[in-house]
Amino acid sequence: MNCNAVMILLLCAVWSLFQAFSNAKVAPESEKCILKPGQIQRKFVTAFMKNIYVNSKTTFQLYLVTCDKAATVTVTVPQPFFNKTIYIDQDSSSLMTLDYTYMITEEDVTSKVILVTSDVAISVYVFYTQILSADAMTCLPQEDLGMEYYIITPGEETSGQVSGTSRQFAVANGFEHEVQVHITVSGSITYNGISYKTGDLFTLQLENQQVIQFQSSDDLTGTKISSSAPVAVFAGHYCFKGISSKCDILVEQLKPVKNWGNVFAVFPFFAHTQDVISIVAGSPDTLVIIDSPESTTQHRLHEGDHVQITVDKIFLINATKAVMVSFLFQESRSTDLKYNYDPFITTVPPSLLGRKYYKFVTQSFYDNFIFIVSQASSDSDFYLDGKTLSSYPMNMKEFSGFKGWQVTLGKTEGQHEIYHKTSTFTLYVFGTEDRVSYGYSIGQGVPYPEQTQEPECSIRCLPDVAEYILPYSLVSEAHLDVLDIHLKDPLCQAEKEKNHYLIKIPYNRCGSNVLYEDGRTFYANTVYGTIPDTDVHRIEIPVRCEMESNKSLELTINPKVNNVICKGYYNVSMKLYQSDTFTELVTLYPYEVDLHSNLHVELEIESEDEELQVFIETLIASPSLEDTNKKYTVIHQGCHQDLTLQAHLLSDQRRQRLSFHAFKFDNFLQVYLTANVIICHNATSPNRCTQGCIPPRHKRDVLTMKEELDTARLSQGPIVLKSREQSKDDSFYIPPSIFMATICVLSILAVGLVIQKLYYKRQHNILLQNRSI
Ligand SMILES: *[C@@H]1O[C@H](CO)[C@@H](O)[C@H](O)[C@H]1NC(C)=O
Ligand SMILES: *[C@@H]1O[C@H](CO)[C@@H](O)[C@H](O)[C@H]1NC(C)=O
Ligand SMILES: *[C@@H]1O[C@H](CO)[C@@H](O)[C@H](O)[C@H]1NC(C)=O
Ligand SMILES: *[C@@H]1O[C@H](CO)[C@@H](O)[C@H](O)[C@H]1NC(C)=O
Ligand SMILES: *[C@@H]1O[C@H](CO)[C@@H](O)[C@H](O)[C@H]1NC(C)=O
Repeated sequence: MNCNAVMILLLCAVWSLFQAFSNAKVAPESEKCILKPGQIQRKFVTAFMKNIYVNSKTTFQLYLVTCDKAATVTVTVPQPFFNKTIYIDQDSSSLMTLDYTYMITEEDVTSKVILVTSDVAISVYVFYTQILSADAMTCLPQEDLGMEYYIITPGEETSGQVSGTSRQFAVANGFEHEVQVHITVSGSITYNGISYKTGDLFTLQLENQQVIQFQSSDDLTGTKISSSAPVAVFAGHYCFKGISSKCDILVEQLKPVKNWGNVFAVFPFFAHTQDVISIVAGSPDTLVIIDSPESTTQHRLHEGDHVQITVDKIFLINATKAVMVSFLFQESRSTDLKYNYDPFITTVPPSLLGRKYYKFVTQSFYDNFIFIVSQASSDSDFYLDGKTLSSYPMNMKEFSGFKGWQVTLGKTEGQHEIYHKTSTFTLYVFGTEDRVSYGYSIGQGVPYPEQTQEPECSIRCLPDVAEYILPYSLVSEAHLDVLDIHLKDPLCQAEKEKNHYLIKIPYNRCGSNVLYEDGRTFYANTVYGTIPDTDVHRIEIPVRCEMESNKSLELTINPKVNNVICKGYYNVSMKLYQSDTFTELVTLYPYEVDLHSNLHVELEIESEDEELQVFIETLIASPSLEDTNKKYTVIHQGCHQDLTLQAHLLSDQRRQRLSFHAFKFDNFLQVYLTANVIICHNATSPNRCTQGCIPPRHKRDVLTMKEELDTARLSQGPIVLKSREQSKDDSFYIPPSIFMATICVLSILAVGLVIQKLYYKRQHNILLQNRSI
C-alpha cells in the first residue's frame, strides 16, 4: 500500500488509462520480491564451471533483474580481479558478461568465486553461452544456501562414447571464513593426487571467496557435501553426450537438503518421451510413490540413493521424506533446424512450494518457452508481461489436480514478469536453437514465512470517512467476534474482509465529533471491542483524524504495527460552466469562448462534511501547464487581482464560484487555469479561509504558505478563444452544451491523521483473567 501519496493531480483521462493499465499489469506490491525480515542486502555466490569448448565466445552471462525497486549491484571476482558496480532501474534488468578467463580450469581450490551483492532484492540468472554448448541456471541467494547437499549428475550416457572425465560439480564459499567441506564420495573423485571411491570421505577447507571444482567419468550422483557454514554447490556435465555423440554442457545450482520437497508434478516438455528425471533421497527409508495415469510405482531409497525415470507421461511424485528431483531435457536431431537442439538440465521445483510472482529472463537467440506448473483452476488469472496467458500460443496438460501450461514466448530478450492473482506456481524457462538449448526453473524451495500480513496502514483518511483496519489476531486474542467491534455508536460495526477486519468511521455520523485542540482540528471517534450484552470493552482504540489541510501532514500511528506514515486526502474539483447559473457544465475541451464573454469557474470539496470551507489562494491563467512563466494572475494570496472578477456568494462554503472576463495571451491560442486551494474546517476559525485576502505587504505571513500552495493544485483547460472571423461568420453559433463526458479534474488534498496509543492491552489482560474465572 502506498501511503506516501499526499497530493495527486490527475486528468481523468490519464487516470482511467492508468487504471486500465494497472488492472491488467501490476501485481500487488506485497507479492513482488518477497523480502525477509531484517534483510539488508541480497547476496549471491556463483562460479563459472568448465565448458568443454573454450574460445572467445565461451562466456558466463549474469542477468541481474530488479523488481519494484532500483538496485545498485556489484559483481566481483577476486582472481582474476573483476569489480564492476552498476545501477539498474526498477523493473529492469542488466547483463554482465564474464569471459572464459573466469572459468574454473584448476583442479585445486581457486579464487574464481563470482559474488553478486545488491542493496535491494534482485533475481540473478546465469547463461553459460557458447555456440555449441549452452545452458542456464537460477542463482540462489545466500539465504537459500545450506550446509548439506547431495550431488546429482543425471542421465545415462550411451556406452563407449565417452573418454576421460565429463561430470563435474563445484563447491563455492562466498562470505564465510574457513569453511570445512566434507565430501562423501559416490563414484570416484581425485583430489590432491589421491583417488577417492564410493564411500570414502575427505575434508578440505575453503576460505571466503574460494571455490573448488571436481570432475569425474563416473556418475557422481549421491555424493554428499556437508560443510561448517553455508556454501553454494553447482553440478552437471561439461561434456554430456546424450542420444547423439556431441558434447554439451549441463549446469544447475543445487538446492540444499533443507530446501528439498515431497510433492513434484512432472510434465514432459514438447512431445518428448525420452527425457529423464533423477530422484535423490537425503534420509534413510524414503518411500517415493510415483503416480501416473496408468500405474503407481514405489521406490524405497536410502540417503544418497537415486532412481532415474523416463518422462514419457505426466506423473506425480509423492515422497514420505524430502527428495531432490532433477530433469534432463534430451536433445533432438532433425534436418529441420527448429527441431535440432541439444539437451539441458534443471531441477524440478517442489510443486506445492511456489510463489505467485516471478521475474525471469530469456535470450532472443533462442526460441523461448515457459512451462507453468500449478493447481490453479484455469489460465485466466495468470498475467505474463501484462497480458493474459491466452494471448500466447500455449497448451495445457493436467493430472491429479496439477496443471502444466506450456507457453511459447518466441525470440524475446530480457526480463519478463509473470504472476497469478491467487495461486502459487512453479516455473520452467527454456529455449532451443540449432545445436543448443538452455533451461532453468524457478520455485522457492522453502516458503518464506508469509509475513503475517499485519496491515501496513491501519488507518486511512478518505474524503468523508476514515477506515480502520484491525488484524484478525487483535480481535481473536480478545475473544471477540467481528460484530463486537463498533464505534461510539454501537450500530456502526466492523466488517470482515479477506485479510482483516475493517471499520468505517464516517466523520459526520456514528458518534464522530470534531475536536479543536492547540490550533489543530481533529475528527475523533473510538473503536471499541465489547463483550456481548455487557458494556465491558476489551478493545478501545481512540481514533483521530487530524485535519490540517493548509499543508502536507504526516500521520503517526502507534498501535501494534511499526511506525507507519499514512495520509488521507480530500477530493477537490474545478469545473467550468457555460453561464453564471452554474447549471450547464463544460465537458468538452478545448473549451471555446468568445473574447468578450465570461468564464464561470467552480471549485468544490467533494465531502459530506458541511462545515468544511474551500478557499482559493491562487488562481492563475497560463498558455501551458508546464510553463507558467507567462501567466496572468486572477487571484493572488486570496486577493482578487482581476478587476472583472466576481465571486458568487454561496451558503455552502464547500463551493466557491467565480466569474471573470475571458482574455488571451499574445501569440497563444489557448489558456489553462490553475488554482491552489486551502481547505478549512469552520471549527478552526479563525483560519486561513476566514483570513481572506492577505495584501502583499504582509510578506512574512505569506512566506510560510509557499510550500503548501504547491500541494493543492488544480488545473483546467485549455480554453480557446474563438477567432474574430469565426465569430462573425458564425453568428448563429450555439455554445457546446450537449456533450456528455466525465469531469476531468481531480485533486487530492492532504489530511493528516493521528491515532493515539492503544490502551486496550492492559485492560484486555485484566478482562481475560476475569473471564477465565
Ligand atoms: C569494488 O569497487 C568499489 C567502488 O567501485 C569499492 O567500493 C569496492 O571495495 C571494490 N571491491 C573490491 C572487492 O575491490
Ligand atoms: C502425498 O502422500 C500423503 C501421505 O500418503 C498424502 O497425505 C498427500 O495427500 C499426498 N499428496 C498428494 C499431492 O498427493
Ligand atoms: C475521490 O477521488 C478518488 C480518485 O479518483 C475516487 O476514487 C473517489 O471515489 C473520490 N471520492 C469522492 C468522495 O468523490
Ligand atoms: C460551522 O458551519 C455549520 C454549517 O454551516 C454551522 O452550523 C456551524 O454553526 C458552524 N460552526 C462554527 C464554529 O462556525
Ligand atoms: C496552517 O495551519 C496551522 C495550524 O494547523 C496554523 O498555525 C497556520 O496559521 C495555518 N496557516 C494558514 C495560512 O492558515
